Amino acid sequence: MKRLYDETLLTPLRVARNSKYLDWDAQPSQFKEYPAFLFRYAFDEVAALKVAQLSRCVTFLGEISSKPYYRLNLPSAGNLHPTELYLQIRGIRGVISGIYHVDAKNGCLVLIQEIDKEGLEPYVGLRHRFKGMLFVVSTVPFRSEWKYGRRAWRYCYLDAGHQAGSVLAAASATGQNVTILSGIDTEGLHQALGFGDEEYPVVALGIGEEGDREAGRLEHALMHVCPLDYSEGTRDASAYLLAPKISDAKGYRPEKIEEETILRRRSARRFSGEALSEEGADFVASLLQEVPEPLHAWQIWMHHPTLPDGIYRDGVCVDRGEYAKLVCRMLVDQYFIAEASAVVILTTDAFGPGALLGAGIFVQRVYMEAGQKGLGVTGIGAYYDLKLQQFLGTDEAILYVAAIGAV
Ligand SMILES: Cc1cc2nc3c(=O)[nH]c(=O)nc-3n(C[C@H](O)[C@H](O)[C@H](O)COP(=O)(O)O)c2cc1C
Repeated sequence: MKRLYDETLLTPLRVARNSKYLDWDAQPSQFKEYPAFLFRYAFDEVAALKVAQLSRCVTFLGEISSKPYYRLNLPSAGNLHPTELYLQIRGIRGVISGIYHVDAKNGCLVLIQEIDKEGLEPYVGLRHRFKGMLFVVSTVPFRSEWKYGRRAWRYCYLDAGHQAGSVLAAASATGQNVTILSGIDTEGLHQALGFGDEEYPVVALGIGEEGDREAGRLEHALMHVCPLDYSEGTRDASAYLLAPKISDAKGYRPEKIEEETILRRRSARRFSGEALSEEGADFVASLLQEVPEPLHAWQIWMHHPTLPDGIYRDGVCVDRGEYAKLVCRMLVDQYFIAEASAVVILTTDAFGPGALLGAGIFVQRVYMEAGQKGLGVTGIGAYYDLKLQQFLGTDEAILYVAAIGAV
């Protein structure tokens, strides 16, 4: 993992080398589309499908250089969305049991294959048929590699974490219990879902319960559909087939989330520079206390209503100081962040796909809960890793950063 951390570090030299002109006309397709002959349910056709819609949907459609510009209910590094979402439905009244693609662009679920005795259960660590919904999040690396090169490997797992966190939020909004399924068979799923070199399964979640009838492996893999219109990717596929280790920790689960919070979510682009109320600051501090292992949360308070500004770890001030400008410089000169109230830095001593995934899930929770309180949040993936480590005086790997504040 040390090798992957080092290869995907951002340094001032790498940033300078990578800041070449980007031809947005050459951006690879952002959405996978299954053939038109397949059966589809529109998102609003069946009430039980609401949770799928709230997990992944388009919430903004604009235009840039005469091209459509989509934004989804979940954030993504560079808005590139190198993720896809699949859903196995079994035994839900009024819905054909089968494996579906969640097609956010067209607002529907596409039935890829019906199921009976066989299904995805054996690939996600379940022996018996699962009555309800099994979600599988995949990543499509080239959508992000196209812009970010090697750094994209990290963004793919962070983005997949946001997608998993979005399923958790959707389950909360629809009043359903959801479990993060640890121990998926990544290679088995990769084959069963008909993926090729451009797409890899990352994490699975379940809403429902295991019955007592055995579930078999799929007799045939699903049809293969390329998730891209083109690719120039020549990657080391093994880096995407590492099964991420993730626990079903309580700290990943958002409190009761409203549908409106999901549909209105945006990344903050401007903070007001005002200190939070005392209640707001307490809320941020206690939310960050819930960060699950193997993640740790550092906080750089830049506008705290009562406590001294400075660096905090686990709620304890370890260094007082005014660090706003210095922190912004380490976040690759993103100076709008100086007006946020706090910068959260997630670190770990167990760097790998599981920790990145966990960081994405946790920050999605922060987006949701802070958003519900009217606070602004932005996930930050662009930072100089080694400089941040040095600043904090830690050997722990930097996983992800988020800015929180009044907007
Ligand atoms: C992994 C990740 C890294 C991100 N890094 C940055 C960043 O460094 N700076 C920034 O301003 N926004 C960052 N964002 C926010 C995205 O730019 C934002 O999600 C995207 O433009 C879509 O906008 P929306 O979140 O309002 O839908 C990041 C988001 C994610 C998920």
